[in-house]
Amino acid sequence: MTEPSQTERRDAAMAAIRTRTDRACDTALILGTGLGGLVDAIEDPVHVPYDAIDGFPRSTAPGHAGRLVFGRLHGTDAAVMQGRFHLYEGWSARDIALAVYVLKGLGARRLIVTNAAGGLTPAFDAGDVMLVEDHMNFTGQNPLTGLNDEAIGPRFPDLLHAYDPGLRATALAAAERAGVPLRRGIYLGIAGPSLETAAERRHFASTGGDAIGMSTVMEVIAAAHCGLPVLALSAITNKATGGADQQVDTIEDVLANAAISGAKIARVLERLLPDFA
Ligand code: HPA
Repeated sequence: MTEPSQTERRDAAMAAIRTRTDRACDTALILGTGLGGLVDAIEDPVHVPYDAIDGFPRSTAPGHAGRLVFGRLHGTDAAVMQGRFHLYEGWSARDIALAVYVLKGLGARRLIVTNAAGGLTPAFDAGDVMLVEDHMNFTGQNPLTGLNDEAIGPRFPDLLHAYDPGLRATALAAAERAGVPLRRGIYLGIAGPSLETAAERRHFASTGGDAIGMSTVMEVIAAAHCGLPVLALSAITNKATGGADQQVDTIEDVLANAAISGAKIARVLERLLPDFA
């Protein structure tokens, strides 16, 4: 039997979701490591566990609940992935893309992605929030490798505006109203799960990366493919300069600092989402 196409996988997943809920989705969110608490603001939520969605991967990463949450979030109809899929869990790039196609299929008109990331730029501190302006894909993978589904998007999608300029401007204005200072920079994606050596961190910093993490780029490529505008915010959870100030990073520190950045991201979303209502 040949492998099902992404369109077939998407349609099967959407059908499974629609047996559980017919809630609308206008804004989709994918929540990163330690940032799942952002769903607490959802009113009257409906939960769909990933294992109830045909063909969907499962969440195995720490701090990832593994369910889709539908509901009203600051005046907009939201579908939130509380827990995402990573290459380091063994999911393929195409598995990761599938979730994005499903969110688009459910009606999403924009995708807000959050992640935990190390700060390559020396000025970035744990607890900061970075607005992602662009990315560099150092995973060696691409979710569009293989046969292209023209029904989803073009063979060679352009990534020039993958991080939607309009959404970035709206987010900067919302952050200002919220009194949350936003760093701005380039997210550099690696496959993980080991962290970088100090030498690699110095190299990645020299390439122009500002924050480094193990997610986001597969999703953003998939979103560009299917024409879904993206806003991405990174929780800076540790210094990743590889310099003299470099400390050993633990998942406990990453989760603790994600909570600090996450509280700031929550304040930005509270001001931002009503702009989409
Ligand atoms: N490197 C890669 N991924 C990460 C880091 C890091 O320093 N911090 C959080 N996710």
